[in-house]
Amino acid sequence: MTQRPLLAVAALAAALGLGLGASAHAETTQAPLKDVHWSFDSPVGMYNQEQLQRGYKVYHEVCSACHSMNLVAFRNLADKGGPFWNPAYPNPNDNPVAKALAAQAQYDTIDSETGQPTKRPGTTADYFPSPFPNETAARAANNGALPPDMSLLAAAREGGARYIYSIVTGDGTTPPAGLQVPDGKYYDPYMPGDLTSFWKGDPNKVPVGGFIAMPPPLVDDRVTFDDGTKATLDQEARDVAAFLAWASDPTADERKQLGVEVMIFLLVFTGLLYASYRSIWRKVGH
Ligand code: HEC
Repeated sequence: MTQRPLLAVAALAAALGLGLGASAHAETTQAPLKDVHWSFDSPVGMYNQEQLQRGYKVYHEVCSACHSMNLVAFRNLADKGGPFWNPAYPNPNDNPVAKALAAQAQYDTIDSETGQPTKRPGTTADYFPSPFPNETAARAANNGALPPDMSLLAAAREGGARYIYSIVTGDGTTPPAGLQVPDGKYYDPYMPGDLTSFWKGDPNKVPVGGFIAMPPPLVDDRVTFDDGTKATLDQEARDVAAFLAWASDPTADERKQLGVEVMIFLLVFTGLLYASYRSIWRKVGH
């Protein structure tokens, strides 16, 4: 049997496909992520603690209204390498900042005297409170869309921090003319999607990206940074992306530090080995 008839059929199909025009090509597109850089990008780069503190503030004051972070407890903020790590408190549960932040949150409990449901302030052992009691409530408040939990978001998305940064600095407020944006949705070139059926312009110029059911969450001065850094939209986005990168990989610093130490050890060890080799064979003629 020969492959020829098959090839001919394939060629015919391709020709027909082309004949049908661009509308036959449905594929997911996304703009190349913005080219931003962080202190922790390189294999030896570390998180910047002040940036993590600012990023936590942005998450806490803005994103946490919709996005949960179920896997992060208040004590984690004071873990080694975390935003509020302080060597004076090796046990993160003793860290006064983590304690104070936890105490601002309220959790359900039962009053031990009356047996009635009541509230208690959080402790460092508590996980971040969820903005919604369950998924149905979260969708109901967000036009049917579910704001994903952010504990591992940076690790779960291609591009990590750059993806998060690009999404929240995307050009949602100015969709290209000719794009029919459904109610409750926003255009974001960095959101993977296929806009073919919403595009009324030139079929060969379908905009890249997709719709997102999140109103652009950041504007200039949305928060006030405690360290005096100017809270531009760009700065807020960088900092929250860094914080989310830390949350999804909190031990990266330690791992990199260990890596550097191992490399130094190996270098020294190589030197020693070579020196002893020279010394052992010194008096032996070749
Ligand atoms: C008003 C509620 C709301 C707020 C506030 C909010 N988001 Fe969202 N976010 C959503 C919803 C809803 C989605 C899901 C959108 C979808 O599926 O189309 C989402 C999706 C996202 C995504 C895309 C997630 C994915 O699945 O790839 C990112 C990134 C994101 N949000 C980042 C942020 C950041 C960072 C903040 C804080 C600066 C924030 N959001 C604040 C509601 C919100």
